[in-house]
Amino acid sequence: MRLDKFLVDCGVGSRTEVKQLLKQKKITVNGKKETAGKLQIDPAKDQVTFMGEDLVHETFVYYLLNKPAGVISATEDDHHQTVLDLLDETARHKEVFPVGRLDIDTHGLLLLTNNGKLAHAMLSPKKHVDKLYRAHVTGIMTREDVVRFKAGIELKDFTTLPAELEILEVDQEAKTCLVQIRIAEGKFHQVKRMVAACGKEVVDLERISMGPLSLDPTLELGEWRRLKPSELKSLEVFGVPL
Ligand code: URA
Repeated sequence: MRLDKFLVDCGVGSRTEVKQLLKQKKITVNGKKETAGKLQIDPAKDQVTFMGEDLVHETFVYYLLNKPAGVISATEDDHHQTVLDLLDETARHKEVFPVGRLDIDTHGLLLLTNNGKLAHAMLSPKKHVDKLYRAHVTGIMTREDVVRFKAGIELKDFTTLPAELEILEVDQEAKTCLVQIRIAEGKFHQVKRMVAACGKEVVDLERISMGPLSLDPTLELGEWRRLKPSELKSLEVFGVPL
């Protein structure tokens, strides 16, 4: 593999930045300062360092994004900003994609990776990966709605699996409430449709967890970070190479 490609893959910087860093003699290969991006290296054998730190070539990368509203869960779009536009050069270079979709107006946790097997496992309808949402609702959800959620809600095209509805706050005057909803599926507009089936309307939707991953409260809307080793470890339950 070319040294410059290796460096971009490792997240050291963009192609242009990597070129600069090489020129500035900031990269060493097997202890020797190296300036030629086209140098062929063996990532398994050669020791490459940047600012004194060993670089490890990653096949798979994992990004945890706090998706803002107004951005679409796709890799390309002619009209809207996509979640990929919010990530770094490495993410685009590694061709990450979102694991499932959030509606354009939904915000919160979104995992992006280039690990297709993991995405497949997490999205498989057989796996029933739990997703937890927090929703601001117009109309007051009731104990009857909790029971309906628990039984599974009949929608036009399918009946949902049993789901959990927890009423967190009620504003009697404004006739609104804040609820938490846990579903084990991920069908199109599912949460909004389940709430609508109870005669109320979701006006703001945030995803706060998906399987073992939770939204990091330190991430502002639009911010992201790579998964931590402990989070990566938690994904081992899906039984695919990470
Ligand atoms: N359910 C919805 O209705 N929208 C989402 O974005 C996610 C779940």
